[in-house]
Amino acid sequence: MATSKTRVLAGKKVVIIGGSSGLGFAAASALIEEGASVVIGSSSAAKVSAAVAKLSDPSTQFNADASRVSGYTVNLSGAAAESSLREFFTRIGSFDHLIHTAGDTLRMKPLDEWDYASLVEAGDVRYFSAILAVKIATANPNLLRRNAGGSIVLTTGAVAQKPMLNWSAVAGYAAALYGLTRGLALDLADKGIRVNCISPGPVETELWSGIPDEQRKAMLDEMGSKLLTGKIGQPEEVAHTYVYLLKDTNQTGQIINTDGGSTLTDRPQ
Ligand SMILES: NC(=O)c1ccc[n+]([C@@H]2O[C@H](COP(=O)([O-])OP(=O)(O)OC[C@H]3O[C@@H](n4cnc5c(N)ncnc54)[C@H](OP(=O)(O)O)[C@@H]3O)[C@@H](O)[C@H]2O)c1
Repeated sequence: MATSKTRVLAGKKVVIIGGSSGLGFAAASALIEEGASVVIGSSSAAKVSAAVAKLSDPSTQFNADASRVSGYTVNLSGAAAESSLREFFTRIGSFDHLIHTAGDTLRMKPLDEWDYASLVEAGDVRYFSAILAVKIATANPNLLRRNAGGSIVLTTGAVAQKPMLNWSAVAGYAAALYGLTRGLALDLADKGIRVNCISPGPVETELWSGIPDEQRKAMLDEMGSKLLTGKIGQPEEVAHTYVYLLKDTNQTGQIINTDGGSTLTDRPQ
């Protein structure tokens, strides 16, 4: 009897830190379609339980199966992130893949408004928590499984390659994820764990929900009109890249763009 060469994620357990909204939620949804189990984590208990309910509901989720979906809170802000992550992973037990998409409110501001404390704070969730999550998940073979095609996917953004006005500190952390991914791919190779990273361009997610409706729509439309694809990215599109990086066991140390062509050039207006 032949076995499937494409349904390789069926029966695998994937932990998605940041899975209660945006890219992480879309990745969770795509992975459930693939037959994987997902465990999502984020800081808001209400967001985690709403996302778990949606991912378990056959009216909103293809191939839904409540037994393959769970979620716990984890708070990645400040020094308490490390103990919160330890508690989070202890509740989960062993798993096959780790995806990190967590990101808090973007902090864009002119250079003269930054100080040491705000600079560190800007990297808490997007950068420092990714390192801590990988450290804790891989220190113990009873968490992220070793030598079994397991992997980690981190998340950066197109601003690492294409600067935007007043985004310098955020862009610095985004670029740092390139070095982090490549370094971790080497550090974890002896454990049989692959490490990759996704770099999205502008995508219509809850990340932008702090901006009033009218203004947000105009901003996303304008960003989309500058992309070669002519429209803002959708989380369901980017989710395919997370699935791909989990599946392709020949990939490690790579940063994959999925950005509507934004890092190539702007669409002629
Ligand atoms: N959307 C874009 O256009 C875009 C473009 C390039 C790069 N990115 C990057 O991609 C990543 C994902 O973005 P997204 O669009 O999916 O954002 P999103 O929809 O806002 O999702 C962010 C996730 O992170 C969690 N989170 C935030 N603060 C947290 C904390 N302190 N502790 C634990 N979890 C926390 C959120 O849940 P809670 O609120 O419950 O904590 C949520 O699940 C971010 O790093 C973002 O900068 C996004």
